[in-house]
Amino acid sequence: DNYCVIMGGGVGSRFWPYSRESKPKQFLDIFGTGRSLLQMTFDRFSKVIPKENFVIVTNATYRDLVLEQLPELQPSQLLLEPMRRNTAPCIGWATYHIQAKNPKANIIVTPADHLILQEDVFEEAIKQALAFVAQHPQLVTLGVRPSRPETGYGYIQITGETEGGFVQVKTFTEKPNLEMAKVFLESGEFLWNSGMFAWNVQTILDAFHRYLPSLTSILDEVNGHYAQSEEQQHVGAIFSQCPNISIDYAVLEKADNVMVLPVDFGWADLGTWGSLYDLKKAEDKANVALHTEALFYEAEGNIISMDGEGDQLVVVQGINDCIISQSNGVLLICKRGEEQRIKEFMAEASLRF
Ligand code: GDD
Ligand code: MG
Repeated sequence: DNYCVIMGGGVGSRFWPYSRESKPKQFLDIFGTGRSLLQMTFDRFSKVIPKENFVIVTNATYRDLVLEQLPELQPSQLLLEPMRRNTAPCIGWATYHIQAKNPKANIIVTPADHLILQEDVFEEAIKQALAFVAQHPQLVTLGVRPSRPETGYGYIQITGETEGGFVQVKTFTEKPNLEMAKVFLESGEFLWNSGMFAWNVQTILDAFHRYLPSLTSILDEVNGHYAQSEEQQHVGAIFSQCPNISIDYAVLEKADNVMVLPVDFGWADLGTWGSLYDLKKAEDKANVALHTEALFYEAEGNIISMDGEGDQLVVVQGINDCIISQSNGVLLICKRGEEQRIKEFMAEASLRF
């Protein structure tokens, strides 16, 4: 059987103030299509995976939001984390949960905050990855051709060895510094890690045992309770002891059985205001206005996002390359190039207000 794990427990802090801890970006209808990023993720994968085989791992505080947005799911398909421990424990828990239901399952793991433009091509790639991991004990990631020296992604160095479209991974470097990212980009030997993974449940369990025993020793403690009615309670009680680390640093950088499927289906990670700006701008330097009317005079390269449904107007003069976002009682005006500092602004603001 094929399962889909959606990781939907991040805070989306680089999208503040639009994305708030109480309602992070994966729950927002960023494109005004009537579907949130989480719902769009579910829609895409439900063409390949039966709805009862979805597992959503998220923070306990988002339980009602998830059930409201995905009424197709049963409450038992939600794994609710009592605190954030990044993606390794999130995937670890989902793996034990799925293994208890089906020790032969193939799993596709996905973030909840991506945009995919060509859904038909996407669907074929997912099917191909799941078919491959059913036959091979490999950890598969979907790789995207890089277009800029982005420091927020993982970089995959590939060798020449291929097997039915899947390429052996030589090195995996999570979030390199800018200098390294430039070298990687120019070498032409690297792909971006899309953050979507496929593997058989046994393959990823072996990798966790080998590379992150501090996690498996904890999750093993409650073995026998996965897929039982008290699972939530048992895992919740030990979850704080799990190491706080992402799957990329914990497993993919270390494992020697990683393969990448190069894909080209119009992938974008909506990680930051800048990525949304790049996606929405009609041409270089154009202004982008979301959820509002706007007039611009001697102004270019701005992205504006306002609370409300477009029944308002923003007038901008003499300001270039800025993020202007008003949401939930906060107005942010910040240079687009400085957006890595938004996490810092958010932390300071949450202390004072
Ligand atoms: N349940 C749960 N719990 N989900 C989480 C947690 C957590 O503690 N932390 C993050 N997530 C979710 C986020 O909501 C998101 O959907 C996904 O996991 C990935 O987390 P990010 O925080 O967005 O990761 P990233 O963007 O910095 O890096 C990852 O994605 C890049 C591509 O978008 C890595 O896999 C990179 O290698 C990759 O290039
Ligand atoms: Mg991300």
